[in-house]
Amino acid sequence: MKIIVVFILLFSAHFSFGKEKFVRVVFNRIASEEATVIWHQASGDFQRFIYTEGEPKTESTNKMMLVNKVSSTNNARGFKTHIIRLTKLKPNTKYSFNIVDNEGISRLYYFSTCSDSPEDRISFIAGGDSRDRSAIRRKANVLVSKLKAHAVLFNGDFTGLDLPHQWVEWFTDWEFSIASDGRITPLVVTRGNHEHSNSILVKLFDVPSIGVFYSTEFGGNLLNLVSLNSEILKIGVQKIFLASTLKKHEDFIWQIAQYHRPIRSHVKHKKEMETQYRNFVPLFEKYKNLRLCLENDSHTCKVTWPIVSSKEEGSSEGFIRDDEKGIVYAGEGCWGAPLRAADDLKPWTRDAAAVNQFNWIFIAKDKIELRTVLYENADVVMELTEETRFSMPENINLWNPSNGNLVEIFQQKSRNIK
Ligand SMILES: [Fe+2]
Repeated sequence: MKIIVVFILLFSAHFSFGKEKFVRVVFNRIASEEATVIWHQASGDFQRFIYTEGEPKTESTNKMMLVNKVSSTNNARGFKTHIIRLTKLKPNTKYSFNIVDNEGISRLYYFSTCSDSPEDRISFIAGGDSRDRSAIRRKANVLVSKLKAHAVLFNGDFTGLDLPHQWVEWFTDWEFSIASDGRITPLVVTRGNHEHSNSILVKLFDVPSIGVFYSTEFGGNLLNLVSLNSEILKIGVQKIFLASTLKKHEDFIWQIAQYHRPIRSHVKHKKEMETQYRNFVPLFEKYKNLRLCLENDSHTCKVTWPIVSSKEEGSSEGFIRDDEKGIVYAGEGCWGAPLRAADDLKPWTRDAAAVNQFNWIFIAKDKIELRTVLYENADVVMELTEETRFSMPENINLWNPSNGNLVEIFQQKSRNIK
């Protein structure tokens, strides 16, 4: 068996005869224990998935594990999508894998599970709105390959019209996020208004909820990431889910919410999301460990001061600054979609501008650090490793507005039950 294993790894390191394409990894439930590998079988028939713990290398004495049957398949948007859900993984561990079909063996890929300890920091890249501008979004993807984040939180509007050829282009461009050594950064996705159905997120990314609202845990009890759906009713089952997941994770150190449409857009012609304001915000504000929301959709860039809902004097559009109890709202999406001017600033806006960017977020027990990265110079940014992922690489171009390039979010001392 060992000889066969070495042969397979040697073979796979140098040739790429398998017909798998668009290989991606998603975290959907518990990022220290589970991951899902998804690909398009362009031709041939899947035979087996071979994975092993440890660094990707041509010779391995580690135990090989085989999966002979995929968890599910589907043909959405013309892809022959194959899905393998891996469970009982070890935390903070690299997993290398090859996909074998009857025409050959894929290249060697790997991904890393997250730590299960809240003592370890987490690095995220967060953004959305890639639409169909390949040249720009590829730059963002290249930078993903270099920053070695634990995960990319991709917050909707992958393509312009959700058409099959646009998804082919999107997945082709997403391959630029795979590092030269085969490292894949896992995704956690939400639905945008340019995805025409919930089911496309379920079929292409194995989202574990037909309503596309779900929780993903990171770092043991460090973080509960709540992915919500702006495109469906904010009452009923989604609201019940939100209330229950926030309650269930109230003893976690942090909770973060991500959803596509901003509650208060910083682009004037975008509508205010009153349904989210009425149904999501009161629940967010009930929990002291929820201090950050990630929003997209507007094709601009903003970060707010910590704010709470308010109709008091001095409030604006239903919010007022509250540095002690407030929630920071960041994002507004520009992973390649056409930029729009940030022409609707509020008194509680910290900074805003029309720039191509994504957020780069470090989560530690004692604080969250959020920076905004202008990714267009991705080609000249020095590549980090998983060991150096919390350092600033040479040539990184941070957005540096008047209030500084670093947003620090600290734990709240008292619960803000209203
Ligand atoms: Fe959108």
